[in-house]
Amino acid sequence: MADGSIEVYESEGRRFPPSAEFAAAALTNDRSLYDEADADFEAFWARQARELLTWSKDFDTILEWDLPFAKWFPGGELNVSENCLDRHVAAGRGDRVAYHFEGEPGDTRTITYADLLADVERFANVLKGLGLRKGDRLAIYMPMIPELPVAMLACTRIGVAHSVIFGGFSPDAITDRCVDAEAKVIITADAGYRRGEPSALKPNVDAALEVGAPSVEHVIVVDRCGTDPMMVDGRDHWWHDLMAEAEPRCPAEPMDAEQLLYLLYTSGTTAKPKGIMHTTGGYLTQVAFTHKYVFDLRPDTDVYWCAADIGWVTGHSYIVYGPLTNGCTSVMYEGTPDTPLPEHRDGDRADWRKDRLWDIIERYGVTQLYTAPTAIRTFMKWGDEWPDAHDLSTLRVLGTVGEPINPEAWMWYHRHIGRESCPIVDTWWQTETGGHMITPLPGVTTTKPGTATNPIPGVYAEVVDDDGNAVTEGGGYLTITKPWPSMLRGIWGDEDRYRDTYWSTYEGRYFAGDGARVDDDGYIWILGRVDDVMNVSGHRISTSEVESALVDHPAVAEAAVVGATDEITGQAIVGYVILRGTASASDDLREEIRQHVAKKLGATARPKAVFLVPDLPKTRSGKIMRRLLRDVADGHDLGDTTTLADPNVVEAIRAGAEAGDDD
Ligand code: WT7
Repeated sequence: MADGSIEVYESEGRRFPPSAEFAAAALTNDRSLYDEADADFEAFWARQARELLTWSKDFDTILEWDLPFAKWFPGGELNVSENCLDRHVAAGRGDRVAYHFEGEPGDTRTITYADLLADVERFANVLKGLGLRKGDRLAIYMPMIPELPVAMLACTRIGVAHSVIFGGFSPDAITDRCVDAEAKVIITADAGYRRGEPSALKPNVDAALEVGAPSVEHVIVVDRCGTDPMMVDGRDHWWHDLMAEAEPRCPAEPMDAEQLLYLLYTSGTTAKPKGIMHTTGGYLTQVAFTHKYVFDLRPDTDVYWCAADIGWVTGHSYIVYGPLTNGCTSVMYEGTPDTPLPEHRDGDRADWRKDRLWDIIERYGVTQLYTAPTAIRTFMKWGDEWPDAHDLSTLRVLGTVGEPINPEAWMWYHRHIGRESCPIVDTWWQTETGGHMITPLPGVTTTKPGTATNPIPGVYAEVVDDDGNAVTEGGGYLTITKPWPSMLRGIWGDEDRYRDTYWSTYEGRYFAGDGARVDDDGYIWILGRVDDVMNVSGHRISTSEVESALVDHPAVAEAAVVGATDEITGQAIVGYVILRGTASASDDLREEIRQHVAKKLGATARPKAVFLVPDLPKTRSGKIMRRLLRDVADGHDLGDTTTLADPNVVEAIRAGAEAGDDD
């Protein structure tokens, strides 16, 4: 277990007041939500559910808890798209902007709540027309364009569960997810803009279906980039053709509070990703609550920007469902943060790509920015002059998510983006938790650089030692002690794995997989994963997934993968590979093996370095000692190697690594 030393905070000794002192209008240290929740956490969530959402039928029970299976608000009925759209339009807010869309090439679209509702109704009819019914699943593999939330919301309107597959994933990932979920339809686009060029999507769907996903009957294709993809007669349909033919009205169907809302696949400790299940009423309650309180939302005037991708849970909860339920205006940006506007490509300043983000914030008057530590560290490296050249004074709250934020990055974010007048909300949560769990609340929590502080009202966490005893100060494992509304309801098709992964390590508790430390103020410092899951730029990738992809290459006999420390991405994937006897080591082969992983899993999983080694360090029982490989990758002292079957192996590997066998 990491010991969690916190050098910068300790040396700077800084602590920040509640945002009341940053922004005069904020609450002042109002603990009433915590007090209310602590008195009766179920009643607290019931009040939030009734106040934040519109129910077509009220629930009769708040929580049925049959560990590890929860039902929140059983008996209640509601529709997610109605909560996100119809009720705002009915209340006269149809003209409010839902999304200021900015495409990577600089094209913009302004989409009001009324516009979004009209598209969602039509597209729900398209889905019905293709035979989709309540309880069915479909897959979405799209760029960050407005048609993506339209597709998601249309599913919720008729009770179809979506499974969004990140656009950076490979054909294999599409096949696996469609097979596991038995998806009937895939919604995609010809391509999306990334780094200044169309990045193909439809050809990956074709490749995935060639391998085989027999449940898939139809593919719907948005023409985003005009790349003229192959269209299979009878199977593939243009989005615009289907929309032109569809009826405009489609009433929202009331759904049971526990109706499956979506599956989102995430990496675990084995090579097979888990289909995390989220349902309707509890999920929407917690994402609406957190989006409102964590971002100190003023929906009538705010322009909120979550710069994540909808392919991850951050985008599901905090670009689509939370913001729309709260009726606020969001910025939605298609591309990578470092792609300059086309008119700036040959500009007079040296490197316009460093300007894009700050330009967007200034142009739209963004009030909340929600991004990841890896991005913040990149901006730091680019230099202060880029944000400093813009008026960022509209910003009120800054958020971070995805990995522990180092205090230097926190301080930079606070000074150069927040101009020392925005509270920073460091939000710890997971695909499995659905919504924020541990985070400061602006106006309430005194923040400290580097810590997610404490659980939100109604959520209960405890750091425990190896035996499951609560740790009041010091390091241990993060657990959640009570059910929460947006918790995962299971792993699709694998009840045993659900129980084993999350509920069997510590009796009666949810085990998050993260190490954590409690400081003398009782604040929780998240230290990162304690299992074989890596965190690269805030994205989860399992070591065994990458190992499987490595050994899939014909020249590879055996492989071990570790997450090495990386200044920008937090962790970087490093693979140690033993070649088959017939293969001979070369730089070309190493490069080919790296690309093979990208082809199997997608570019996010491409190892930063692959070392070709004669052997791997194993215990006498044959278990690979990843700790040693991590230490070699980090250049650390190796400590005790006496349990190794062959202690010379590590020296041989290290000699290879030091000989510059790196990229
Ligand atoms: C894992 C969950 C939640 C959306 C993005 C990632 C790490 C997440 C923080 C944070 C320290 C964090 C944890 C967690 N993580 N947020 N604020 N501080 N670590 O979702 O892919 O499900 O990954 O990300 O290790 O377990 P995910």
